[in-house]
Amino acid sequence: MIQTLEWTEEGVRFIDQTKLPTEEVYVTSKTYQQVADAIRTMIVRGAPAIGVAAAMGIALGVRDSKAETVAGLKQDFDHICEVMGQTRPTAVNLFWAIQRMREKFERLRVRPISQIKEELIEEAKRMHAEDIAANRAMGNHGATLMPNSGGVLTHCNAGALATAGYGTALGVIRAAIEQGKKIHVYADETRPFLQGSRLTAWELMKDGIPTTVISDNMAGAMMRQGKIGAIVVGADRIAANGDVANKIGTYTVAVLAKENNIPFYVAAPISTVDLACPDGNKIPIERRNAREVSHIAGKQMVPDGVSIENPAFDVTPAKYVTAIVTERGIARAPYEESLRSLADADAKVQV
Ligand code: MRU
Repeated sequence: MIQTLEWTEEGVRFIDQTKLPTEEVYVTSKTYQQVADAIRTMIVRGAPAIGVAAAMGIALGVRDSKAETVAGLKQDFDHICEVMGQTRPTAVNLFWAIQRMREKFERLRVRPISQIKEELIEEAKRMHAEDIAANRAMGNHGATLMPNSGGVLTHCNAGALATAGYGTALGVIRAAIEQGKKIHVYADETRPFLQGSRLTAWELMKDGIPTTVISDNMAGAMMRQGKIGAIVVGADRIAANGDVANKIGTYTVAVLAKENNIPFYVAAPISTVDLACPDGNKIPIERRNAREVSHIAGKQMVPDGVSIENPAFDVTPAKYVTAIVTERGIARAPYEESLRSLADADAKVQV
């Protein structure tokens, strides 16, 4: 199994996703600042993986704090949480993970420093294990929606590399294949960062899952030619009304799906659902460096001085979403009700 990230005594160990698919290199972030940099520079990326990485980074920073009182440790803890919270703005799993670590710290406040440190490490490891279990559960629910055979399109990477393991959208595809469905994956290249061609294709090839990479502008033609029976993508934040923020280009895919009568599914853990966010207009969209658009593999592709936009995510209105697959079950419109009732349901995923 691909180890996207793991806790080690030395620090948080990541597969360096900026080097894939040509080099499989592992790096260890030995301080919380290095973990924050790994998130910012996309050594680790994908909403659930970012959340777990941040939790591990917080545990690492607290473990190495020199504070001699709980009040001093809390001050360090707050600062570390602040640094983590400034890494990337869109994936709500980051803020969900920070909040969960904050609540854990509050419950531990009366305990000795050594125990607080140990328990925060355990909490981060638990989040890692829970994420894999959630993906397996999501896979089982979502597999029922997949066609028995034929093409399934995905955009970006919502796989093992974007999570603690197994994946959300790719978890659904993996589970369908484990159940005997004969699925062929179409992976959108996903310009500008190429998560589809570099990461999705890499991990599916490793698992022997038949995969075809297409450039993003080919998706509509493939749908029209009848090659795509379903679409499944991940999410970075889902608003209370079911609007979905995901990698830039997802909206285009969803509109094309509607035009071609193809179901458009979103697979994401409950930690991606932000009930405090009423609709997609309120989701902060990360703007990344223009160089990601202007250059491909270090080579300049646009003339000097031209204006460039690089929003990393877009919002797909809920009306385009056929269903949202979570570890607690499948939500359908009206999403205000279905998402809230899944979020309120007791977690059934056991680790
Ligand atoms: O910028 P990235 O690579 O972090 O964006 C990732 C995505 O948009 C994924 O589709 C999303 O996080 C879901 S991952 C299970």
